Amino acid sequence: MSVRHFLSLTDFSPQELVALIRRGIELKDLRNKGVLLEPLKNRVLGMIFEKASTRTRLSFEAGMIQLGGQAIFLSPRDTQLGRGEPISDTAIVMSRMLDAVMIRTYAHSTLTDFAAHSTVPVINGLSDDLHPCQLLADMQTFREARGNIAGKTVAWIGDGNNMCNTYLEAAVQFDFQLNIACPEGYEPKAEFLALAGDRARIIRDPLEAVRGAHLVSTDVWASMGQEEEMAIRQKAFAPYQVTRELLDAADPSVIFLHCLPAHRGEEISHDLLDDPRSLAWDQAENRLHAQKALLELLVEHAHRV
Ligand code: CP
Ligand code: NVA
Repeated sequence: MSVRHFLSLTDFSPQELVALIRRGIELKDLRNKGVLLEPLKNRVLGMIFEKASTRTRLSFEAGMIQLGGQAIFLSPRDTQLGRGEPISDTAIVMSRMLDAVMIRTYAHSTLTDFAAHSTVPVINGLSDDLHPCQLLADMQTFREARGNIAGKTVAWIGDGNNMCNTYLEAAVQFDFQLNIACPEGYEPKAEFLALAGDRARIIRDPLEAVRGAHLVSTDVWASMGQEEEMAIRQKAFAPYQVTRELLDAADPSVIFLHCLPAHRGEEISHDLLDDPRSLAWDQAENRLHAQKALLELLVEHAHRV
């Protein structure tokens, strides 16, 4: 069996994803009880960050340390990648020294190119297309709060960005209905819409999109790399702010999630993260637990094959 990567939610079966979420919940419980579990002793994760990060870096680094291993942070500025060493050569060399590699990058092809030459697991820590690690945390948070998400309705409000694309994959893998409210011209990528098929609908009106929703989520209006479009985006997205009143129109059991960082006064109202329906802080914490489950699975698997 060849090495497994996690570049997209579709790299794992629905059953594997549910098992992963369950394991994340278990690992959280063990940590809360003070139980030490170090299955990755002496294992090393390399982390390449071409974009900024708070949560992803911390959760992977803390997660590796808690599992008994170590993580090494690499910025392209300080490595030969920044001076033009090919991705393929970098992948070969890193594979010889490390047990897994996490990459946060722009073009998704950087991840697939790296993975094609890597003999150790490669994890997508966010690309312009997808952010699958975030969805593991989101799905763990929903399960903890409300149980199984299968058959439920999720509303995505705002930009059809990397998070929205990943929600489209999640709709298929976790079996829920996704309503997307986005302005014209800011739809998710066609390939992810096609993959979701009748699991997803584009509904322009946020009020209509949240009707009956059990989970509402949004994200920044300008993602990393789109900073210069901010002014034009602020105009286009103004009717798409998520507020307490918008949540009132959803199912009474609705929870709100935001991958963070949040821009209060833009995609969310100033008070939304203080609303009891917002579980964004649990969601942020769950990055740690869900990714520990992912690291355990990928690195242990790699050492069995
Ligand atoms: N949600 C998320 O990925 O946060 P960071 O950009 O801080 O890693
Ligand atoms: N869509 C955002 C997510 C940040 C975690 C971005 O790509 O910047």
